[in-house]
Amino acid sequence: MRRKLAAGNWKMNGDADLLDELATLTAGQGDDAPEILICPPYPFLAHAVALSDGSPVGVGAQDCHASASGAFTGDVSAPMIAEIGAQAVIVGHSERRQGHGESDADIRAKAEAVWAAGLTAILCIGESEEERLGNNTLDIIAAQLNASTPNGASADKLVIAYEPIWAIGTGRVPTLEQIIETHDMIRNELIERFGNEGAMISVLYGGSVKASNAAEIFTARNVDGALVGGASLKAADFQPIIDALQAS
Ligand code: 13P
Repeated sequence: MRRKLAAGNWKMNGDADLLDELATLTAGQGDDAPEILICPPYPFLAHAVALSDGSPVGVGAQDCHASASGAFTGDVSAPMIAEIGAQAVIVGHSERRQGHGESDADIRAKAEAVWAAGLTAILCIGESEEERLGNNTLDIIAAQLNASTPNGASADKLVIAYEPIWAIGTGRVPTLEQIIETHDMIRNELIERFGNEGAMISVLYGGSVKASNAAEIFTARNVDGALVGGASLKAADFQPIIDALQAS
């Protein structure tokens, strides 16, 4: 069985009130909850780890530097994230690729740093609207996947998140057929490169996932969960997505 994961990316949102939402979330999970991960901004990570201690909710960071330490003002390393008790790091989010000029090679190096620190990398890939309209989606996604993913991937340390850029924060979602087509291709690429391990690596969908569309998205055979932005900020919005994943 592949890991089923409901991951929340809080992006640059968060304050003490938002941490109350995390407390609500940790208190609300039953024994058979799927894997849940909340990725708050760096300043809230340690507090989030303390709040979720002993609950099924894990904590992850949204990015890291590729080096373990050094003269990199403003950056945070994967060993630091591991030291405070977080379990995962998102790498290659399109907001990092686009807003910070991160290349596939940069993201590959970050994923290697995440693994070296003993954490799980949640590696994001996704096409722009222009690429989708140009019928280039599958080629673009395959190229990003192969260039961003380091050698030696395994299911315990890698999760892929397919997030079409045009679906992020827009309320627009690909058709189920488009999601299935892309996730099937990702699965085939993972198997081709990593064999049996590639069959076990979880692949999440991200981009305007809400309570109202989660159950349908989770029917797709190679969708193992979701990376959720806006709808992960409130426990009342995120919980139905977690429940839909559990029921899938
Ligand atoms: P939204 O769920 O707000 O569309 O964001 C998706 C995302 O970018 C998660 O990483």
